[in-house]
Amino acid sequence: MNSQQDNVKRYTVTTALPYANGPIHIGHLAGVYIPADIYVRYLRMRERDVIFIGGSDEHGVPVTIKAREENITPQQLVDRYHNIIKKSFEDFGISFDIYSRTSNAVHHKNAADFFKTLYDKGCFITKTSRQFYDEENKMFLADRYITGECPHCHAADAYGDQCEKCGSSLSPDELINPRSKISGNTPVKKETTHWYLPLNDYEVFLRKWILDGHKNDWKTNVYGQCKSWIEQGLLPRAVTRDLDWGVKVPLPEAEGKVLYVWFDAPIGYISATQELLPERWEEYWKSADTKLVHFIGKDNIVFHCIVFPSMLKAEGSYILPDNVPANEFLNLEGDKISTSRNWAVWLHEYLEEFKDKQDVLRYVLTANAPETKDNDFTWKDFQARNNNELVAILGNFTNRIIVLAHKYFNGEVPSCGELLTIDRETLDEMLQYPSKIADNTERYHFRDALGSVMDLARLGNKYLTDTEPWKLIKTDETRTATVLNVSLQIVAHLAVLCDPFLPFTAAKIRAMLGLDNGLKWKDAEKEILMTNGMKIAQPTLLFEKIEDNIIDEQMLKLSKK
Ligand code: 2FM
Ligand code: ZN
Repeated sequence: MNSQQDNVKRYTVTTALPYANGPIHIGHLAGVYIPADIYVRYLRMRERDVIFIGGSDEHGVPVTIKAREENITPQQLVDRYHNIIKKSFEDFGISFDIYSRTSNAVHHKNAADFFKTLYDKGCFITKTSRQFYDEENKMFLADRYITGECPHCHAADAYGDQCEKCGSSLSPDELINPRSKISGNTPVKKETTHWYLPLNDYEVFLRKWILDGHKNDWKTNVYGQCKSWIEQGLLPRAVTRDLDWGVKVPLPEAEGKVLYVWFDAPIGYISATQELLPERWEEYWKSADTKLVHFIGKDNIVFHCIVFPSMLKAEGSYILPDNVPANEFLNLEGDKISTSRNWAVWLHEYLEEFKDKQDVLRYVLTANAPETKDNDFTWKDFQARNNNELVAILGNFTNRIIVLAHKYFNGEVPSCGELLTIDRETLDEMLQYPSKIADNTERYHFRDALGSVMDLARLGNKYLTDTEPWKLIKTDETRTATVLNVSLQIVAHLAVLCDPFLPFTAAKIRAMLGLDNGLKWKDAEKEILMTNGMKIAQPTLLFEKIEDNIIDEQMLKLSKK
């Protein structure tokens, strides 16, 4: 299953389905959606057959708790956040082929059928155990419905599945002084029966597939987490819950039970593909020549590398992910991003204050992406990268060339005369960038790939400094024409090569240069993109300097949180 390009006929690229119980923030974008979008935009420019799948994860206990707090139905809650999230993705140019949701009918049917197939094949075991029950509200207290003191760090409000303070995974029985989140009462224990996927039965398969098969191509953080899970010993995992919000368990004896949210959510990727391509979805999930890639954050590794693949393996007809390039976390000003503490930069708020500056955030979050370790977003770094990199390097080069083309040659591409060594060397160097950027992008090294785009702009700036067309024009118009012709080729190459990373900027450059919107990666492998006489539009500013007071306002806003 290794990524031998020649055998790959199509790509299925999925992104973690965000919970529809709140808006999304810069951590989501940096960790999952921008890297995935870069990868997909790049593949499209390579004219590869690719589908890009996203959607909202609308089940699970946090949704029902929040809906209860707000006195609305879970459906009303997810309707609200699904739309907010979907809009944020559109605003930032995350170019999904479909952005679906797990509360829809296609998904409910598909997830229930998937469960039934595994049930009929005898893949589950059942266990009856005594679980916490709230007598006042007559309900079992699954996952986050139960809180109590963390046995490890003694935080007061750890959940039945996890302590947010110290990050430990917990089971409800480990909590000290457990309480019902709904009534606040001490719960009683009551017997209940659930279906479990015996992950222990998949250990041999997982060892061979991941530990032997993906040692060299999966990221070390991903591989390392998988190894430690497998070596700790895998246990049966419950795939059902006593709840009324979720996909109903399709068995007559399972009244009042739904599929566990982490069982149904990844099946959501498949359901969304069925919605997108009702006739052809199987090609993207069941053909050995399809490459499946899951973009996720590091907290989702076990589900995408161990649990979901075991489910797919149990079902038997699906392919497995070729790679799961999970990122680490992005912090904000040195502190963990937290929805409950409102310590975040929310995407919808960013756009209110930085209108039309989507690419600035895309740039900063990629240049500083948490690819190999947790990273920090700071407003000062945001300002510095905007002013010193986007404005001073990419914006400045593009703008200077277009201004000079208007000033000296009436906004038309001047003809290229005899090439001197410096021209030839610059053009040769320019032509190395498409493969450099492609190699890094295919290996999920998006920071390095973007670094190369900026290096190409630096090359352009250096060429200008060395050739000084503003002096040349006084003595040698023919030579000036050649210098501007070469420079315009560089700007045009930048327009193509920056597109996966900075799609809004790429579109603006193309519009100024009069280039076709359908340019492909292979076009950047040609030397000449701007032909003599092509008309160039008046320059528009690609980026503008961000002043201190704007950054101070953001810092102040954060300090009030
Ligand atoms: O961690 C999360 O936000 C989950 N909602 C991700 C689900 S990914 C997939 F399985 F749907
Ligand atoms: Zn703890």
